[in-house]
Amino acid sequence: MRTTLKTLQNMHSKGEKIAMLTCYDASFATLMEANGVDVLLVGDSLGMVIQGRESTLPVTIEQMAYHTSCVASGSQQAFIIVDMPFGTSQASPSSTFAYAAQLMAAGAHMVKIEGGAEMAETVLFLTSRGIPVCAHIGLTPQSVHQLGGYRVQGKSDAGAHKLLEDALALQQAGAGIVLMEAVPAVLATEVTAKLSVPTIGIGAGAGCTGQVLVVYDMLGIYPGKKARFVKDFMAGAGSVGQAIANYVAEVKSGTFPAAEHSF
Ligand code: KIV
Repeated sequence: MRTTLKTLQNMHSKGEKIAMLTCYDASFATLMEANGVDVLLVGDSLGMVIQGRESTLPVTIEQMAYHTSCVASGSQQAFIIVDMPFGTSQASPSSTFAYAAQLMAAGAHMVKIEGGAEMAETVLFLTSRGIPVCAHIGLTPQSVHQLGGYRVQGKSDAGAHKLLEDALALQQAGAGIVLMEAVPAVLATEVTAKLSVPTIGIGAGAGCTGQVLVVYDMLGIYPGKKARFVKDFMAGAGSVGQAIANYVAEVKSGTFPAAEHSF
């Protein structure tokens, strides 16, 4: 049976953890589902891990729609979230709707939009017209040049207050999931406790409802130094499927992320 937003909401209410991974093609979609992944994220991280670009900024709506249709072809059970690429959600709610509709037609079940309370009007526009939205706050990679690099967010009192206000405003606007990237674990736990919708963390500690990693990272395929929030699940696993199963087991039991993976 297909996992839905309702399923994820029920898991959150029952205190069950949600396991999510990025996914860009049909073969990985099938393998991830066979090993218990609840949510597949067609992330615009594909610009970096597949296209070899320096950031996610060059990724286009056509490329996102293409990878979404590949993932949807290999998927029968998981909930599929797809990133709105840079430039498709920032201009106006109605142009965002048109781009989001393209992704939904390609196989998305929900779109993900980066940004805080300033995106609330757009989130309301989409969710009141039948397009579920996952709000992505904290470190928002599409704003890397404004943020001055890939840095932990919400460390100051003012930054922490803003993150909580952003999360509440986006939930109020209809966001069905709030994803937090690179924020202190204590803050992400507090935000999760104050929201009624599920939260997903990446570099946000174990207090979120669920976790996501870029699949290439958790398989040990990364250039240079491993990021603090990444664990290489391929180490000690006999196969890619086993590494994914181990990731799911550790997310479900709350053992990943450990303190060493958190800020
Ligand atoms: O694009 C992506 O893969 C993401 C995750 C890092 C959350 O947004």
